[in-house]
Amino acid sequence: MSPDHHFPTTRLRRLRYNPAVRRLVQETALDPGKLILPLFVRAGEGVRQEIASMPGNFQLSPDQLGEEVREAAGLGLGGIILFGIPAKKDATGSDSTNDEGIIQQAIRAAKEAAPDMLVTSDVCFCEYTDHGHCGVLNDKTGHLDVDNDATLELLGLQALSHARAGADLVAPSGMMDGMVGEVRDSLDGEGHENVAIMAYAIKQASAFYGPFREAVQSAPEFGDRKGYQMDVRNWREAMREAALDQAQGADILMVKPGMPCLDLLARLREETSLPLAAYQVSGEYAMIKAAAANGWLDGDACMREAMQAFKRAGANMVITYAALELAESF
Ligand code: PBG
Repeated sequence: MSPDHHFPTTRLRRLRYNPAVRRLVQETALDPGKLILPLFVRAGEGVRQEIASMPGNFQLSPDQLGEEVREAAGLGLGGIILFGIPAKKDATGSDSTNDEGIIQQAIRAAKEAAPDMLVTSDVCFCEYTDHGHCGVLNDKTGHLDVDNDATLELLGLQALSHARAGADLVAPSGMMDGMVGEVRDSLDGEGHENVAIMAYAIKQASAFYGPFREAVQSAPEFGDRKGYQMDVRNWREAMREAALDQAQGADILMVKPGMPCLDLLARLREETSLPLAAYQVSGEYAMIKAAAANGWLDGDACMREAMQAFKRAGANMVITYAALELAESF
């Protein structure tokens, strides 16, 4: 690629020196309607507990959720994504498939508070299992491992239960093979054909999820998630993951974490016509907040710049813990 003319005929600063011209040639714009706010809902009443490593984010009991959701609606956010923290965790994460479970209560409370707000639910087991892994375990291979196919069946039940509670979008995040197809079949089997699937299509086994695991107390009790989440070294495999989710009926493909995977987002933008989401994860949020608290970075400007980077790389929407403050600043 070479410019039509060379300097001094061509001067790119002509498009920059005047703020009005700069505005005119902007290629991407930020819009609160494209931001999705994650919210953590825990069993109990009157709970509003700040998450130490994610300042400005809270564990909320269902009765406290309404206020947060109404604020999000008032600011014109595109949606929320809910994560549940049950009173009791067990080996199969049974709270997550229970129509009266914590996430089901949260979905209903959110819909009651702001009926037009788009409600997404994270469909996974790690917040609900006592061992902290994203599915049920077996020891077929001589050591404990997540049983892919046994987990699929439960994932289908979980998504169905979220849809019954009123979720508009379900977001399977466990990186099980076949999960999108299973969830689609399960939803369609009960007449929820209008509930869309946002697939965590490219989800790396990333160290940037640290603060999230504090937020939902889901650090795995043994081992790590590298047996199901993707190796951060690989990009071709990431494209295969996304293609499989698309083939299984995903409506939106998500890339996660955000900034460490901008290359994957940009590549995927070239390869698919599906809408794309970027997830600016807990660690990315925590880094900017911590540096800002130390006076080392302008936190607001960095947060906006991160959003602009996601847009430029091809994201239609961004999931971010900074959604409220960003929407206030546009
Ligand atoms: C799994 C899930 C995780 C995140 C979103 N969904 C945790 C994990 O895979 O360990 C991480 C999000 C973040 O770090 O902000 N239910």
